Amino acid sequence: MEVIKGISRMREFVREQQMAGKRIGLIPTMGYLHAGHLSLVREALSTCQVAVMSIFVNPLQFGAGEDLDAYPRDLTRDCELAEKAGVAAIFAPAVAEMYPGGGYFSYVDVENITEGLCGGARPGHFRGVTTVVTKLFNIVQPEVAVFGQKDAQQAAVIQRMVRDLNMPLQIVVAPIVREADGLALSSRNVYLNPNEREAALVLSRSLKMVQEMVANGERNAGVLRKTIENQINKEPLARIDYIEIVGSEDLKPVEILKGQVLIALAVYIGKTRLIDNQIVEG
Ligand code: PAJ
Repeated sequence: MEVIKGISRMREFVREQQMAGKRIGLIPTMGYLHAGHLSLVREALSTCQVAVMSIFVNPLQFGAGEDLDAYPRDLTRDCELAEKAGVAAIFAPAVAEMYPGGGYFSYVDVENITEGLCGGARPGHFRGVTTVVTKLFNIVQPEVAVFGQKDAQQAAVIQRMVRDLNMPLQIVVAPIVREADGLALSSRNVYLNPNEREAALVLSRSLKMVQEMVANGERNAGVLRKTIENQINKEPLARIDYIEIVGSEDLKPVEILKGQVLIALAVYIGKTRLIDNQIVEG
């Protein structure tokens, strides 16, 4: 496995693979890899011969006062895990390689579906994501890029961007990987102390509860939202950021469930903001 820091070497690697007739699958990440990230590699290698993983903690998608500096980083460990998973190249540029000094003026902005959910709580976040992802697509020119359903709004925004801007690649969205007790894997779980780790189960537990209610015929979004709210409010370490029940593609709030519906939560456990979601069929 090659670890590539420079854009020009990355482009050369891509040309070599293209000349050899290989399909490239890209897995964009911010590193501190866990089994969720590695499941995306497997997904990429199911249709591509070459998996390229990017590891870049993108300053553009962090707001003032967010955890950019504290975000966990361990490139050595990430490289070991990625290599075992079958990644052919890691692209790990420095910030100055992606955003050289002297001014940066160009952004990709997806409107409308970036305004609610995490976009409401984190203004500018999705502009940072869509800009860096576009740069990665331009540098790596993958046939396929794989994202996780864990970040449901991010996946919907990227699918929309690729469709709206005719970007020549296929987006694959892979299921959420969870711990045995239900907690969705996240690089940010390392921030949780043991009590918070226990309290964090309230996210997956309340989603499971409403999933069963939907399976038993409940279609009223207000009733489902209230159920989740009550569960989370019972947990002293938890504070709700949002509970949203929206169409899975347009991310518009629904009152009566119909078609594919996304139930998405953002909850502070202590100081750590966690997200989780569940798609249900209305
Ligand atoms: P990061 O949080 O590192 O996540 C990288 C990818 O892994 C995302 O597509 C995310 O949805 C997926 N992922 C995270 N946890 C997962 C889990 N438990 N199960 C399945 N997939 C999971 O998302 C980002 O980085 C950044 O915003 C990025 C797209 C790299 C742009 O900077």
